Amino acid sequence: MNTSSGVEGISNILVIGAGTMGRQIAMSAALAGYSTTLQDISLDGLTAARTEHKSWADSRVAKGKLGQDDAGAALDALAYSTDLNTAASGADFVIEAATERLDIKTQIFEQLGVLTPAHAILATNSSTLGSSKVAEATGRPAQVCNMHFFNPALVMKCVEVVRHGATSDATVQAAMGLARRLGKEPVLINREIPGFIANRLMGAMQREALFLADEGIASIEDIDTTARTALGHPMGPFALMDMVGLDVIDFIAQATYEETGNAVDAPNERITALVAAGKIGRKSGTGFYGYTR
Ligand code: CAA
Repeated sequence: MNTSSGVEGISNILVIGAGTMGRQIAMSAALAGYSTTLQDISLDGLTAARTEHKSWADSRVAKGKLGQDDAGAALDALAYSTDLNTAASGADFVIEAATERLDIKTQIFEQLGVLTPAHAILATNSSTLGSSKVAEATGRPAQVCNMHFFNPALVMKCVEVVRHGATSDATVQAAMGLARRLGKEPVLINREIPGFIANRLMGAMQREALFLADEGIASIEDIDTTARTALGHPMGPFALMDMVGLDVIDFIAQATYEETGNAVDAPNERITALVAAGKIGRKSGTGFYGYTR
């Protein structure tokens, strides 16, 4: 493809990073019929992703929500690789969901600029780093943007497409078009701003929830219940923070605070202490709540 042919020309998708987000983004792409490679430097991560894909597909079939043939086709469309060179060489569209570190992402985007075909669009799933930070490293900044998915990515409809100053209209259209083909409802963010839209809204809710709990105004259970029963949120702010991971919440706050210097964005002491104690939410078995794993 070339960027002027937009979403129509996309056949091969490369997802980099087999963590929580990358796995489900890759599965979403495979379900939409794209030949999809999930790449990670960790073979263990890829093996776990493959197992999760299979069991997710099996459970959808068992629930009657996915046909056996469609499940088989999606699993067949997925490839797993530790070799970025080969994985990148045929990619029309890349979604990077690696560790949230600028040095790691810059290195990946530098490699992508060399290894992918010239027409390939290079997107990052980062929630904290605007793509302007890695765009120049690719040698094709006009073809770089953020494409920010939400956890769990197989379920959540939103994808924030964020353009930086030099992102082309063709790139934006291709990213929005691809998100729609993945069954999502993309939103366009015209200028980089810490937290984009969703994490700014979520942060405001979390700050207020933490204030109410820290002041002893109400229990975390009752605050969560109120968010569900009064506001119609699917889960309350404390349960949501536990699901996202308190390490991720703390990291987002640190990154936002570093960028804005605004006291309201500063990390919350209670969360920082829980992270230091290894209590990072559902994935560790304890956060604001306890979980049986
Ligand atoms: N992976 C894949 N699918 C999942 C899932 C997961 N981790 N968790 C739930 N699901 C699926 C279930 O299989 C089920 O599918 P079907 O209805 O088609 O059978 C569906 O989601 C509903 O699940 P449940 O009935 O078990 O539970 P629920 O109705 O409470 O929904 C939820 C679970 C989808 C997580 C819902 O509670 C929800 O939407 N919560 C809010 C999530 C949210 O706000 N996410 C954004 C986080 S912020 C972020 O990601 C950005 C960032 O930068 C940190």
